[in-house]
Parts: sequence; C-alpha cells; structure tokens
Amino acid sequence: MNIGIVGTGNMGRVLGLALAEQGHPVFFGARNLEKAKLAAQLGAANTFFGNNQQAAEFGEVVYYNPRDVHPAEVLSNPDALNGKVVVASHNGTVPVDFAFAPVIESRAEILQSQIPRAHVVAAFNTITQEIFEHANHSLHELNIACFIAGDQAGARATVAQLAASIGFTPMDCGELRQARLIESAADLVRMLLYKQKNPWASFSFTQVPPVQPGRLGGRQASSLTRR
Ligand SMILES: NC(=O)c1ccc[n+]([C@@H]2O[C@H](COP(=O)([O-])OP(=O)(O)OC[C@H]3O[C@@H](n4cnc5c(N)ncnc54)[C@H](OP(=O)(O)O)[C@@H]3O)[C@@H](O)[C@H]2O)c1
Repeated sequence: MNIGIVGTGNMGRVLGLALAEQGHPVFFGARNLEKAKLAAQLGAANTFFGNNQQAAEFGEVVYYNPRDVHPAEVLSNPDALNGKVVVASHNGTVPVDFAFAPVIESRAEILQSQIPRAHVVAAFNTITQEIFEHANHSLHELNIACFIAGDQAGARATVAQLAASIGFTPMDCGELRQARLIESAADLVRMLLYKQKNPWASFSFTQVPPVQPGRLGGRQASSLTRR
C-alpha cells in the first residue's frame, strides 16, 4: 500500500520509515526538501521524497503531520486527499504545570471537518517517536497499544493493520469523536513522561484472565447505571 507523508517531521519520519521497512512504498513530503530527502535516505529503495502535494497524491494512506494547519495551507490541491485514509496523531502543546484543558473537540475531528471527503483516522497519539526506534519484533513483545478512532470502519481497519505490521497492538476505539479520549490519554501519558523526564513508556491494554468471583465478594448489584 502506498504511503504518503505530508510533513516529514519527527512522527512522519519514524512512521514512514517503519512502514517502509515492512515493504510499503513511502513518499516523504515536506516544504523543506532537505528534510524529506534525509528521511528517504534513511530508508531503502522503496522510499521517495518531494513536496507535500506529491506525497498527498502518492499515498493511498496519507499521514498528515502539520498540527493546527489547514490542509489548504499545506497542499496546493487538498482534494488529492478525497476518498483516502488520512492518519493524524495530533496532540496539543503541553501547558504549564500540566494543566491540560478537557478535549471538547479533538484535533482529528477538526481536521476531518477541513477535509470532509477524506477518512480521517486518529492513531499513534499515545506513542512517542522514540518508541518507534525499537525493532519490530521487540515492539510486538512489548504489547504497546495504538488507540485508533475514525468514522469509517474500513479506514480504521486499514490503520489497525498498518499499526500491527510495525509492531503495535491496535485498539479500535470506534468513531472519530473517541479521538477526544485518545488525545486526553496522550495528555496523561505526556504528563507522566515529562515528569519522569523519560520518553520510553507507553500504554499497554492488557487482557487479564478471568477468575472465579468469590475471594473478594465478586461484582455485586449496584445502583450505578451500566450499559
Ligand atoms: N513526537 C512525538 O513523540 C509525538 C508522539 C505522538 C504524537 N505527536 C503529535 O504529532 C504531531 C506532530 O509531532 P512531531 O513531533 O512530528 O512534530 P514536528 O517534528 O514539529 O513535525 C511537524 C511537521 O509539520 C510540518 N509543518 C508545520 N507547519 C507547517 C506548515 N504551515 N506547512 C507545511 N508543513 C508544516 C513541519 O514542517 P517543517 O519541518 O518544515 O517545519 C514538520 O514536518 C503533534 O501534534 C504531536 O503532538 C508527537
């Protein structure tokens, strides 16, 4: 599957290179061609570079890296994204004293409203770029969750498959509005990482084997509403 990277920043570079390792043709786009070229040179024969518009046109799946920048400002023809899966991992800036505001509308939803005919999928928000440096087999063993949200099930499945192929454990969170929770989860993980001055940690969503209730009384009737 052809991958286009719009904005070869840190996340675009590491994601693109990880996918290229799995054999996907990857086109690194940038407004500064040197950055795109450097990323492509770190890859193998299946990596290419050029401007952002070329990357948008090349990709069947496009990773959109610029944060809070309307695609119409980045691309000469944003219609190139129509019908495509557009992956974004945008989080906000880290505020003073980690006083994060609640995420009322996610950045992924805002991006979707800017490119309504694309299929925006939020993913990789909670995974620092450093973690991508691990070899694929190590990542598989580490069971690192990649939370995924998007309004189209097929687009989510495509991103889940790509995330799994590079070693992450995809967690389908459903509709794009769940990106609000994903971005909040990213705020939580960044708060912890910044405080620890350590980018080498991430979420795992661990399946716990069930045990017969009884030892501690089990889950008893409750007045709380459950769905
Ligand atoms: N880094 C991480 O570990 C990490 C992890 C999870 C999520 N995230 C989130 O992912 C997003 C990207 O992070 P990042 O670390 O990759 O940032 P970054 O290294 O600063 O990359 C941002 C990219 O966007 C491009 N860009 C910015 N404004 C642009 C414009 N007006 N026109 C064209 N291109 C523009 C930049 O191009 P130039 O290089 O030319 O400026 C750069 O390629 C952020 O929202 C961040 O919160 C990051």
